[in-house]
Amino acid sequence: MTETADEGETADEGTHRGRRALVTGAGQRMGRAIALELARGGAEVVVNDLDRERAGAVADEIAKAGGRATVSVFDVTDWASVEEAARTGGPVDIIVNNAGNAGRTSGPAATDFTPFIETTPGDWDAFLGVNLYGVMHTVRAFLPGMVDRSWGRVVTIISDAARVGEQRMAAYSAAKAGAAGFSRAIAREAGRHGVTANCVSLGTIAYDDSEMPGDVQARLLARYAVKRFGRAEEVAALVAFLTGPEGGWITGQTYPVNGGYSSAL
Ligand SMILES: NC(=O)c1ccc[n+]([C@@H]2O[C@H](COP(=O)([O-])OP(=O)(O)OC[C@H]3O[C@@H](n4cnc5c(N)ncnc54)[C@H](O)[C@@H]3O)[C@@H](O)[C@H]2O)c1
Repeated sequence: MTETADEGETADEGTHRGRRALVTGAGQRMGRAIALELARGGAEVVVNDLDRERAGAVADEIAKAGGRATVSVFDVTDWASVEEAARTGGPVDIIVNNAGNAGRTSGPAATDFTPFIETTPGDWDAFLGVNLYGVMHTVRAFLPGMVDRSWGRVVTIISDAARVGEQRMAAYSAAKAGAAGFSRAIAREAGRHGVTANCVSLGTIAYDDSEMPGDVQARLLARYAVKRFGRAEEVAALVAFLTGPEGGWITGQTYPVNGGYSSAL
């Protein structure tokens, strides 16, 4: 089901003018920042989240700033819901696969994760469902519309856990790495139709409500070249570039935004 929040004038200037962008998991934090940035560039943003209230609040925020937003509540792990959203909500030009989980509900602290050999296959579903199948469902449902119109941009938010491998986060690492491999394959399939597909790989991001004990923070930061955590706006700026007009010849890549936690060659 979709609802529209449209209080202000549509931005008539900007890199994303005339584009319609779906951002999954856009009800808070990273997804919210990306949705606001694309709206600022003139895109009409389809704000997806599981949580209607959160998605509505972000759509209202966009509308108050003079942008255009539509709320689309669906669970990316549920193919039928994603397919219905694509069928009833209309086509999009841009997909940002942001919905994801690392097994935590608040804050970037990751101290209580379970070693892989203590997990069972049933424990892995929650990670593979959102971070891999969620991406595949969304692309499968919305890519045909892009192919029909010979233009599209797909950006998938992954994690350096996928690139480096992170202990006690094996299922999450596997799911995010799977999403990156999937994205590269889609880049090859869809490039001839004017559609690009890339990943943005994050290190630890700090949000206004992030809470992390000082010793955990110091331990994590020891691995970063730039001695602070990332800001959502820094990621959103790259997503805006990749999904904008100048991103047309960049495809099949993974770009880290990670304060030097790891390097891409
Ligand atoms: N926060 C970090 O430090 C960090 C680091 C590396 C990668 N990432 C990745 O960045 C992305 C955003 O992270 P975040 O910190 O903003 O996450 P978050 O948990 O704060 O927000 C995720 C949003 O997605 C929604 N969501 C969750 N499952 C969903 C589903 N099945 N369908 C639709 N919506 C769903 C949630 O309701 C929530 O609003 C994720 O893909 C995450 O894996 C985050």
